[in-house]
This record gives sequence, C-alpha cells and structure tokens, in this order.
Amino acid sequence: MSRAPLRIRSFRDDDLDAVVGLWHTCGLVVAHNDPARDIAFCRAAPQSELFVAEADGRLVATAMAGHDGHRGWLYYVAVPPGRRGTGLGRRIVDHAGAWLKSLGVRKVNLMIRESNLGARGFYARLGYDVEPRCVMARWLEAPPHSPQSGS
Ligand SMILES: CC(C)(COP(=O)(O)OP(=O)(O)OC[C@H]1O[C@@H](n2cnc3c(N)ncnc32)[C@H](O)[C@@H]1OP(=O)(O)O)[C@@H](O)C(=O)NCCC(=O)NCCS
Repeated sequence: MSRAPLRIRSFRDDDLDAVVGLWHTCGLVVAHNDPARDIAFCRAAPQSELFVAEADGRLVATAMAGHDGHRGWLYYVAVPPGRRGTGLGRRIVDHAGAWLKSLGVRKVNLMIRESNLGARGFYARLGYDVEPRCVMARWLEAPPHSPQSGS
C-alpha cells in the first residue's frame, strides 16, 4: 500500500497532457480511440467520471467510471510503471467503485484485452471474477482503420 499522501479528484482541463501521456505509456491507446475525445465524451455525461490520483505533485493513477442505467463500467485504469505495486491501482479502483455504488450501481463490469494477463491478475486480487460472457460490439459510425479490436 502506498504511504504517499494521495488525493483522488475529478479530471481537470490542465490534466489532459499528463493523462494522455500516461495512457500511451501504459499501452491503453489504440488507433480507433482518440483519448482526448474519450475524455470529453466522458465529462459530458452526468453518470460518468474520470478520476485522477495525485501524489508528490504528480499524476499517479487514472480510472474512468460510469454507468449505463444498469451496470457500472471501468475504463482507462492506469498507474505509471515506476509507481506500480504500491496500492495505487487498488485505491483508485476502490474510489471509482465507491462512487458508482453511491449512484446506486450494484455491479461493475470491465473488459480486458485477452493479451493483458497483468490486468487480469490485478483485478482478480481486487475481487473481480471472470464471467462466462461473450462480448459483442458493432460500430455505429465508421471507425478509424485499425487491425485491433477493443473497447
Ligand atoms: C493494472 C495496474 C493498474 C495495476 O496497478 P498497481 O498500482 O500496480 O496495482 P496495486 O499495487 O494496487 O495492486 C493491487 C493488487 O493487485 C496485485 N497486482 C498488481 N498487478 C498485478 C499483476 N500484474 N499480476 C498479478 N497481480 C497484480 C498486487 O499484488 C496487489 O495485490 P495485494 O493488494 O493483494 O497485495 C497497472 O499495472 C497498470 O497501469 N497497467 C497498465 C494499464 C492496464 O493494463 N490497465 C488495465 C486496463 S483493463
């Protein structure tokens, strides 16, 4: 568990470069997702939030959370490589989960790319289970060309 004083708050405009940089560093940005657009869309909706954690004056974690009127969802959970293993991921996911619960959400879902075994291990430690579901998706507008699939 990290002992550095940690402040978890909502994203502000001046966080943009640090957040997008962190997501690139963490391999969370794929060709069909524009992170700045994703952030703007998240912030425009009352039932979604982008949380950032600060410690030592630096941005040390992010988590995007929201609900669709039924389930809660988590996206863009990220901790810089040099800060991992100190409890920051757990703390921001717990914060996002508590926020969703305060809105009446009973269950949180998330999607992990199959190759991301580290994230599976992390969420398993936080009490998340792999459930036998098949995720299906369809673009409602033409996506930028990308060989990858993702959320
Ligand atoms: C996944 C990620 C957010 C974890 O952040 P973190 O700050 O290192 O995680 P924590 O230190 O809070 O770890 C919480 C628990 O998960 C465990 N854990 C963390 N990473 C793990 C891994 N790769 N494999 C197995 N367990 C892991 C920790 O040991 C800890 O267990 P404990 O509390 O029982 O001791 C971070 O590795 C990351 O940013 N990865 C790249 C981005 C990513 O893949 N995000 C998820 C997208 S779906």
